[in-house]
Amino acid sequence: MFVELINLAILISGRGSNMKAILESIKRGEVEGIGNILIISNKQDALGLEIAEKEYGVTTTTVLSDKNNESFESRLNSELKKYDVGPHNGLICLAGFMKILSPSFVELYKHRIMNVHPSLLPSFKGLHAQTQALSAGVKITGCTVHFVDNGVDSGPIILQYPVPVYNNDDELSLSERILVKEHEIYVRAIKLFTQKQILVVENRVVQI
Ligand code: GAR
Repeated sequence: MFVELINLAILISGRGSNMKAILESIKRGEVEGIGNILIISNKQDALGLEIAEKEYGVTTTTVLSDKNNESFESRLNSELKKYDVGPHNGLICLAGFMKILSPSFVELYKHRIMNVHPSLLPSFKGLHAQTQALSAGVKITGCTVHFVDNGVDSGPIILQYPVPVYNNDDELSLSERILVKEHEIYVRAIKLFTQKQILVVENRVVQI
């Protein structure tokens, strides 16, 4: 039986631990159905670039941010095209990618761009979600993988995982505990996608 492969682009800006978890799961054969893999960073010095190249032998490229978002996205589009990560066969995973994509880009790749965020959305959007959780005094926070829409850290939620907040937690200890779960649910979400088990009905994801 012919199975169409999904070409994957992972967009990063820094350390790339979620990217690494995804690459590791593909390497181990836990996620199947992936064709081309491309790592794109908008920062020259993103640590994840070296990890992708040296540890996984995966192609990387940089598309540096500039003030003109249109020019950034046209350069991004040409990289995606080069590796055939298209609106009908591609999946774009934002993994610590700290740049907002335009509504037209998001529309082009509708329900094909995923993001991971270190909170139970819609709580604590934006930067320093773990500190926001500590300041709010919540006892449970967590992480979310969702499809990207035109908002910041919003869009149909694919998977979430709760993480308790302990009395002695600080930003670092809480972030580390959440990060372990981010890695797990991001891989699971991609697996659901490649297995075509995700259906979006209005703003809700139903697993089929
Ligand atoms: C992760 O904690 C991710 O959830 C967060 O950035 C970190 C990137 O780490 N993303 C956001 O806050 C998006 N709003 P990583 O580079 O090690 O994957």
